[in-house]
Amino acid sequence: MVKKELTNRKLFDEFYSNKLSDGKEVDLQGRVRTNRNNGSIGFIEFNDGTFFKNIQLVYENNEYSKIRYGSTIEVKGNIKLTPNNKQPFEITVKEINLLNDCAEDYPLQKKRHSFEFLREIAHLRSRANTFYAVFRVRNVLTYAIHKYFQERNFVYVHTPLITSNDAEGAGQVFKVVADMKKPDDFFKANASLTVSGQLHVEAFALTYRDVYTFGPAFRAEQSNTTRHASEFWMIEPEMAFCDLEDNMNVIESFLKYIIKYVLDNAKEEMNFFDTMIEKGVIKKLEHVIHSEFKRMTYTEAIEILKKAKENGHHFEFNDIHWGMDLQSEHERYLTEEVIKGPLFLIDYPKEIKAFYMKQNADGKTVAACDLLVPYVGELIGGSQREEKYDVLLYKMQEIGNDKGLEWYLDLRKYGGCIHSGFGLGFDRLLMYITGISNIRDVQPYPRTPGSLKF
Ligand code: 4AD
Ligand code: MG
Repeated sequence: MVKKELTNRKLFDEFYSNKLSDGKEVDLQGRVRTNRNNGSIGFIEFNDGTFFKNIQLVYENNEYSKIRYGSTIEVKGNIKLTPNNKQPFEITVKEINLLNDCAEDYPLQKKRHSFEFLREIAHLRSRANTFYAVFRVRNVLTYAIHKYFQERNFVYVHTPLITSNDAEGAGQVFKVVADMKKPDDFFKANASLTVSGQLHVEAFALTYRDVYTFGPAFRAEQSNTTRHASEFWMIEPEMAFCDLEDNMNVIESFLKYIIKYVLDNAKEEMNFFDTMIEKGVIKKLEHVIHSEFKRMTYTEAIEILKKAKENGHHFEFNDIHWGMDLQSEHERYLTEEVIKGPLFLIDYPKEIKAFYMKQNADGKTVAACDLLVPYVGELIGGSQREEKYDVLLYKMQEIGNDKGLEWYLDLRKYGGCIHSGFGLGFDRLLMYITGISNIRDVQPYPRTPGSLKF
C-alpha cells in the first residue's frame, strides 16, 4: 500500500480548528514547488495537490538541496508552529525520499509564464498557481450547482450527447459519423453532438416538475472570441408550472447561492484571484449577492442605446434599431455602463430568438430572459416555453424544424402546462467568478476552432 492518510488539506483543517499540535509527526507525499538553500539550511515549498497553500519543509541535510523543482517526494518530519511567520506552521524534516525526479527540460519553470504559453502545456498547467486555483474553483462551483438543485428537489437528468435535433435551430452542429461508414448509415438519421439538452429535459419537467441537466454542449461556431468555445458545459434547469417571472426569480436565487458557496468554500483561491487576476473581484461578487438584479425590456434597451448614440457614444455596430440582434458591445454597454451589475433583458423580438419561446400577447415579442453581466456579456439565456400546440407547430414549420420533433410537439398535446427554464454557460460563470478573461483559461482542455492538441 502506498497511499498515506495525511494531506496538506488535513493539516490546514487541523490548524484552522486549533487542533494542530507542535511536534506532531507527519508523513506526506507530494511535489516540490521550490527548493532553495542558504548553505546550512534549506527550504522546500511543498504541495500535495489537496490545498491551495504550500507547506514549507525545513531541512539541514545538504543532500536534499539537489532535489529538483517539480520532483515528487515523500517527507517525514515534525510540525513546527510558527505563529510569527508568514506561514502559520512548517515541517522540520527528518527524512525525504525522492519518488520521481523531474527532468531538467521541465517546461513549467519558476518564472511567470504567459497564459498563451501555458495553453500549449495544458497537461502541466494545472500545477501553476493560477490554474491550480481555477480548476479547484471549477470543482467547487460544480458541487454548489448540484447542491442548490438537490436541496430543492430538482431531478438531475442525463440528456443525450448524440442527438438528431438542433435544439436551438441555429445550424451550428457538429455531425457525428461512424468511422468507415457513410454519413447517416449508423443511426439511419442525421446525427450530431448536442447543442443543448433543453428539449429532452423539457419532457422530464412535465413528469417530475423541477429538473435540470448539467453536461457538455457542442457548437460549431466560427466565432473566435474570448467567450466562445466549441465544447462548453451548460446547466439547464426546466420547471413546470413556472412562468418567465418565476424563472428569473430562480435564476437570481440560484446565482447568488452558488457565488456565495464559492466565496465561502474556496477562500484561498478567491483571495488569490482578488490580488493576482482581478482586483476587487470578491467585492464585485459580494455586491451581486446583496443586490437586486435589474430587469429591462429589449425595447427599453434599444431606446437607451439610441440615446447613448445620440450623446456621442460610438458603437462598432452603430445602426441601432428595434429588431436588431444585440452585439456584445451593446450588452456590455448596458450592463457595464448603465446598470453596473447583472441585468435581465426580457421580451425580445421573436425573429431573433429560438422557435420554442412563448409568444407574447403583442404578437411581436417572445418571453425570453437573457442575463447579462459586466465583462462577460450574456451569461444566461432563458425563456418561458410556448405551450400552445398550434402556435408551436406553426413556428416549427416556418423554420422547417418540425420533422423529427413530433415527440416535442406531443408534450403540448398530452397534458402540457406553462413551463420555463434557462441555460447557464458554466465556463462563462467561472470566468466571471475568477476574473479570468479568456474562456480557454477556465477549461481544462479547451476546444476552439483550429485547436485540438490534447
Ligand atoms: O443562449 P443559449 O444558446 O441557450 C440555450 O442553449 C437554451 N437551450 C437554454 C435553455 O433555455 N435551456 O445558451 C445558453 C448559455 C449562454 O447564455 C452562454 O452563457 C452559454 O450557454 N454559451 C456558450 N458558452 C461558451 N461557448 C459557447 N460557444 C457558448 N454558447 C452559449
Ligand atoms: Mg443565448
